[in-house]
Amino acid sequence: MSAEYYMDKPDCFIKVENAVRTYNQGGIRVEALKSASCRVLPHDRIAVVGPSGSGKSSLLHIMGGLDKPTTGSVSWPLLGGPESLRPGRLGFVSQTRSLVSSLNVLENIALPLLLLDHDYEEAKNTAEDLLRIMGLMDIANKQPDELSGGQLQRAAVARALSTRPKVILADEPTGQLDHTTADHLLGVLFEHIRDTDTALVIATHDRDVARRMDKKWKMQYGILEVEAV
Ligand SMILES: Nc1ncnc2c1ncn2[C@@H]1O[C@H](COP(=O)(O)OP(=O)(O)OP(=O)(O)O)[C@@H](O)[C@H]1O
Ligand SMILES: [Mg+2]
Repeated sequence: MSAEYYMDKPDCFIKVENAVRTYNQGGIRVEALKSASCRVLPHDRIAVVGPSGSGKSSLLHIMGGLDKPTTGSVSWPLLGGPESLRPGRLGFVSQTRSLVSSLNVLENIALPLLLLDHDYEEAKNTAEDLLRIMGLMDIANKQPDELSGGQLQRAAVARALSTRPKVILADEPTGQLDHTTADHLLGVLFEHIRDTDTALVIATHDRDVARRMDKKWKMQYGILEVEAV
């Protein structure tokens, strides 16, 4: 399949065109993303790989509408404008701590549904189901600052799944997990989106995770190399 064919497909969830992201680090201009172009299509299972500092998080933040490219563009043709992404159509798992510290784990996972005006009981039941699937029921009533890094990561994944989003962007979701737990987490993600057209994009250093995805995008020095299979 040619790169042109891949780029011309109109039916995508996310479309990034010539996105550049520069940061100012104490007067020095750092180009974290150098003219990246890519698309996320329904059913995609994409691993974004590359060394630390190569721009994976910068790319994911732009794809998720959490950040804007310095130049270039991002759009979500099948999802709507940036205001319609969260909570709801796009689930984002941040690489850094992201749970609301004043809420317990169950409340954190129910929160996106409550923001979408779901009934409290229904939101709570969904959150409990997700915690059960993740094997996290024992921490349902704990506050985020009482959790280990791996428990926080798994709770963040559960929260991202709560609204059954069309796209899941997960930034290093297994970074603090042992091999068995990482494997289980990926299994939960795959099972959750099975029989749907949901797309999954995972930035990862974990070769086992990358191997289980269908496509591999490589980042190096801010340059994105997209594999069109
Ligand atoms: N908020 C920021 N302010 C200044 N520089 C930043 C900021 N965020 C990222 N950078 C810089 O941009 C570059 C890319 O960072 P990014 O976090 O995207 O890399 P990454 O591939 O996700 O790395 P890692 O694998 O360690 O998570 C790095 O040089 C980093 O120092
Ligand atoms: Mg990162």
